[in-house]
Amino acid sequence: MDTQTQLIRHAQEFIQPLLGHRQPTTGIILGSGLGQLADELEDAVAIPYNVIPGFVGSTAPGHAGRLVIGQLGGKTVLAMQGRFHFYEGHDMAQVTFPVRVMRALGIDTLLVTNAAGGLNPAFKTGDLMALNDHIFLPGMTGQNPLRGPNDNATGPRFLPVVNSYTQSLRDIAQEEAAKLGIRFHQGVYVMLTGPNFETRAEMRLLRAWGADAVGMSTIPEVIVAVHGGMRVLGISTITNTLDPDTTVEANGEEVIEVGKAVGPRLISLVKAILPRI
Ligand code: HPA
Repeated sequence: MDTQTQLIRHAQEFIQPLLGHRQPTTGIILGSGLGQLADELEDAVAIPYNVIPGFVGSTAPGHAGRLVIGQLGGKTVLAMQGRFHFYEGHDMAQVTFPVRVMRALGIDTLLVTNAAGGLNPAFKTGDLMALNDHIFLPGMTGQNPLRGPNDNATGPRFLPVVNSYTQSLRDIAQEEAAKLGIRFHQGVYVMLTGPNFETRAEMRLLRAWGADAVGMSTIPEVIVAVHGGMRVLGISTITNTLDPDTTVEANGEEVIEVGKAVGPRLISLVKAILPRI
């Protein structure tokens, strides 16, 4: 057994007894400012990341840094209240480790959220967007979580990612958002490493590539989830809009504030989606 597989096993063995008789089916990753969703879980058990073997600490603002297991929308869920980002200095294996552990715990569905900047001119601050495809710029340039030895028992060496975002889950999200009167889109998310925001030339480039929203996370976790055979639903909160024709700047505090303000809307959507998945 290689070191990574051993580490995953240690984390699994640490978390398993804390689940009691519960079998979580859905993993949720909560992005910047979106952590309040974890406070909605019933019969919750919270585990700080720093006591879980193999988990690194979460240093990003707006990320609490704990795993919360509980009931939501009729499902047993395991929620990450705060994620690990590449820009914090973690490597791709560390960033995606929790998803490997989710899979080892028997979780087959990943609901991953993030805060993103809107590139599509039709998007408004506070809109939600389900990812229907992505551009994984760090992965394309060598920072890919699947680089290195492949565990064939988990997934294939050469992974197809054309259908990463499960169509049926996107359909459900779209339907429930319409019922709730939530502005909702589907689109392409591009991941850059950050932590700086984009230049205007970069905004133009990303638009020309067909990206609708840009952020600094999510895709490594999606790749690892797909590698492990999980179903994936990704939802971005558009916390700010990006316009290459103005000198208005994105701002980190605003991203977190808008994320928090949109939180209740995202929570109501997730609660509506969970019973149907
Ligand atoms: N750019 C990159 N990442 C982001 C943004 C942005 O404008 N907003 C939230 N995350």
